[in-house]
Amino acid sequence: MDNILYSGFIGPKAENIEALRILLNKVLDHQRTWRQSFFIEDDSLYKNFKNDFSSIEKELDLFLQKYNSNTPFFHPRYSAQMLKDTTLPTIIGYLAFMLTNPNNHAYEGGPVTTDMEMAVVSWLKNMIGYKQGWGHLTSGGSLANTEALWAIRDYYKSGTVYFSEVSHYSWKRICSILRIPQYEEVNVDKNFRMDLNQLEEKLEHNPALAVIANFGSTGTGSVDDIEGLLQLKNKYDFHLHVDAAYGGFLRTIILDEKGAVIPYKETLPISDYAYKQMFLLNESDSITIDPHKQGLISYGAGAVLYKNEELRSVILNTAPYTYHQLDKPNIGMFSFEGSRPGAMAAACYLTYKVFPLNNVGVGKVAYNSLKASKEFYNMIEDSDGFKNLHHPDLDLNCFYVNSDLRSATVHNEYVINLYKQLSVEAKNPEFILSKFVMTPELSRRILPNLENSSNENVIALRSVFMKHWNGLDENRYIKMLVYTLNRKLSEIKI
Ligand SMILES: Cc1ncc(COP(=O)(O)O)c(C=O)c1O
Repeated sequence: MDNILYSGFIGPKAENIEALRILLNKVLDHQRTWRQSFFIEDDSLYKNFKNDFSSIEKELDLFLQKYNSNTPFFHPRYSAQMLKDTTLPTIIGYLAFMLTNPNNHAYEGGPVTTDMEMAVVSWLKNMIGYKQGWGHLTSGGSLANTEALWAIRDYYKSGTVYFSEVSHYSWKRICSILRIPQYEEVNVDKNFRMDLNQLEEKLEHNPALAVIANFGSTGTGSVDDIEGLLQLKNKYDFHLHVDAAYGGFLRTIILDEKGAVIPYKETLPISDYAYKQMFLLNESDSITIDPHKQGLISYGAGAVLYKNEELRSVILNTAPYTYHQLDKPNIGMFSFEGSRPGAMAAACYLTYKVFPLNNVGVGKVAYNSLKASKEFYNMIEDSDGFKNLHHPDLDLNCFYVNSDLRSATVHNEYVINLYKQLSVEAKNPEFILSKFVMTPELSRRILPNLENSSNENVIALRSVFMKHWNGLDENRYIKMLVYTLNRKLSEIKI
């Protein structure tokens, strides 16, 4: 593709809708020819049937009206949650196979799409740097993490599960579902990274079943110190699972076209700390990575990879009525989920053919999001009105109104005032951001100077800059956002 940053997406002003129409027609023409190639001697059932699509058309009109209250998730002005603009190959790839609806739980349910899923998994393994192992797609990150911990629990049998206090909320839920009462949360440091001193103290008393590291925590995008965790793993021997649901695909920025890791250089839009941890993802024992976050795919696609293939044998499941082609991959025999859309594997396959998992494909897109986040961080550093809550490890920024020496109450009033104007709660907001809420206890560690005698939660504004549009045109939208924030701030009277 000439310039995938532009041609791979629908575009903020639907610039590529006509291209999509042409591609859709191609898929539909192919579908007609393909269907007609089967049992050609059969007569059509439609001989005496008069088509009438009026009820579909009527309902579709009503249905499309509902779109008007949908949020413009695709736009660079939306950075509230984890959404990218939809890619053309994802739409086309999904639709092409949805038209016949294969099911990737068993090879017989989706032979072509299972082969595609296995190809995608081998690309994902290359992206992470796993030379061996097994993995598959899931419907999302929570499912991938659930399955991983299920396999880990049944493989190793005992020990405590450790994860940081800013880990995704689902980890506690997963421990509850899997009836693992022995889990402990570990404090984070000022950059929201797991405190490894505290972890070590805990490990001395309670051996670990697994340590779950974040490569991109949900709230702040923080990256745990994988290097330090590997040293602890050597000493205390545990399974290291990385929850890279959010950040895993960003490793594409350090892979060249042959898949080799490029050395750190100043022009990369990440710190050498983040680079080091990205580099070391290949040393983890298992990993969750979500195509539906940074991987350019629409919702419905997570993935889990295991370095040790034996972990799948403890969750083996068979059935008398399926999984008959045993010389082929039957993913459902080794997965938590049953039926899964072959169309999603097809969407991933076509997308990663167009956007390969290296720095000229997905990495080129990711580069621009990271660059935008870095620019935003620098602009906030330079501003009088705002402060960064943390140094972003990836492309997720939290910030607040410069509130040194103010109380938590006043701090929150400013942040909430801005949030109400620049979020899904506002009517016609100029930008759509979200917020990050810290418990009083966490906020005391992160913002020790903030007076908080009323023991309030402390709130920051949060922007997920994973849309590459923000990095284009000399970071135009980032500049506009900072300008808007300053203007709104000057209008606030508290
Ligand atoms: C770090 C992390 N892990 C897990 C999840 C859960 O993923 P999903 O919402 O796809 O189930 C998320 C979602 O935001 C996440 O950010």
